[in-house]
Amino acid sequence: KESNGHISVVILGATGDLARKYLWQGFFHHYMEQVTNGYSFSFYGGALAEADQGNPALFEILKGLRCPSEVDQQKCALLKEQFLKLSQYRQLRTAEQYSALHEEINTQLKQEELVEAGRLFYLSVPAFAYVEIAERINSSCRPTTGGWLRVVLEKPFGHDYDSAQSLAVDLEKYLRQDEMYRIDHYLGKQAVAQILPFRHDNAKLLYPLWNRHHVEKVEIILKETLDVKGRTQFYNQYGVIRDVIQNHLTEILMLIAMEIPYNVNDPQEVLGKKLKLYTNLQDLSRRSAVVGQYQNFNFEVKEELNKTVDYVSNTATFAGVAVYIENVQWDGVPFILTSGKALDERVGYARIVFRNPTFCVQNEEAMHCKLRQVIFYFGHGSLQHPAILVSKSLFKPILPSGWKEVTEYPELTLLGQPLSEYYIYTPVTQSEPYTILISLIFQGKHDSFVSTENLLASWKFWSPLLHSLSLHMPRLYPGGNDNNNFLDFELKGHELSFIQEPVVISSNIQDE
Ligand code: BG6
Repeated sequence: KESNGHISVVILGATGDLARKYLWQGFFHHYMEQVTNGYSFSFYGGALAEADQGNPALFEILKGLRCPSEVDQQKCALLKEQFLKLSQYRQLRTAEQYSALHEEINTQLKQEELVEAGRLFYLSVPAFAYVEIAERINSSCRPTTGGWLRVVLEKPFGHDYDSAQSLAVDLEKYLRQDEMYRIDHYLGKQAVAQILPFRHDNAKLLYPLWNRHHVEKVEIILKETLDVKGRTQFYNQYGVIRDVIQNHLTEILMLIAMEIPYNVNDPQEVLGKKLKLYTNLQDLSRRSAVVGQYQNFNFEVKEELNKTVDYVSNTATFAGVAVYIENVQWDGVPFILTSGKALDERVGYARIVFRNPTFCVQNEEAMHCKLRQVIFYFGHGSLQHPAILVSKSLFKPILPSGWKEVTEYPELTLLGQPLSEYYIYTPVTQSEPYTILISLIFQGKHDSFVSTENLLASWKFWSPLLHSLSLHMPRLYPGGNDNNNFLDFELKGHELSFIQEPVVISSNIQDE
């Protein structure tokens, strides 16, 4: 087969948690797909440890790579052997070590008479290391014979608008915009990735309905049962809004509310429409949000950080926020974003709830009077079970390609409504978000990543609320199954408030 060129992949933080769980598996998957398309590869796992520690750690990870159930297992086992041969550990700590890697890649290209297609650097390292690594890549690792350079970055991309901007300015000294791929792994979740295509494909039916005249509210929810033990130090500086709402849930809001691009496959158009929507978001006030903190959090912080007895963290581990959009389409429709740790269930979905016709107030039993909603169920953690559900009383949507219709979906226990009242679509094959995004990076599809402009627009929107919350104490909640309705909140005007009176859990902490 004619060669399409050689790709060198360098994963930094190659033996860390993310790489171990998702990245190597994602690159292996991509390798299996692309090797038959005439590409050749080398994979370098980079980290700070010396080779005698790094080598065995990387080998352990590679040995554990899985063959997806839908592929021929024998063929996959052979490809895995090849993948292992192509993957090597490199200590990447000093500028010289980056230069040596560059030389090594060039020598291989020359010796094997390979044409360089490109180089991909995946930075799965703490954000404080980004600028130094970007500088090294720029000064000594750029392809010299015309191949592309792509650098992948993981959040956090700053802490607020100012820090995000200064990080962006520093990175731009070394990397071009089109060379950077900022990952938001929610954009790789199958149900999230389907939101725009779903709206586009069903535009004829949805266009008249997808607006303030027919939509009562939109809820975007990510509830987690786990607490943050093990990463308390990080979390104490960030909190739930920075950790998942400013990025994951806001991206979902964008996909639901943005104008449908004329060409959903044009990255520039998609990113441009998102950016336009940011300018329509109504400023948040302190009362746009309710915040909580699970009771043990403060003890965990003290334990992990060796803080004194008097230390009181006011980091929110739960938040509900009402977002409004000031444009003709969405004026007055609340978008309620909710997320929290140590909650009573583990679930993630976005639902668009439609108003019922006035007639239904007296005739609740009529078919078209039942709850009418579209749900993008994106799941959470490894239990994703992605699905799109549409109330039968609304309309029957077009089946997305690569998806199937099902009638049973035992994994879903949704909002008390029988599943028989929905059209339910699920992907034929479930894929990990990272596997999907890695493949999109190779395709150069920027719209599934976070551009600098959109990142800064998001921080601009969230930062004032974050700053005002930093002066308040969140409401304490017990955590786990004891939360009862403790965190239930209601919307009055554009303001949110908890329904129940605060319960005194710890006398020296004041409730919000
Ligand atoms: C991460 C957050 O970005 O997303 C975590 O840092 C959170 O705190 C996670 O648990 C949720 O992702 P998923 O895919 O498990 O729903």
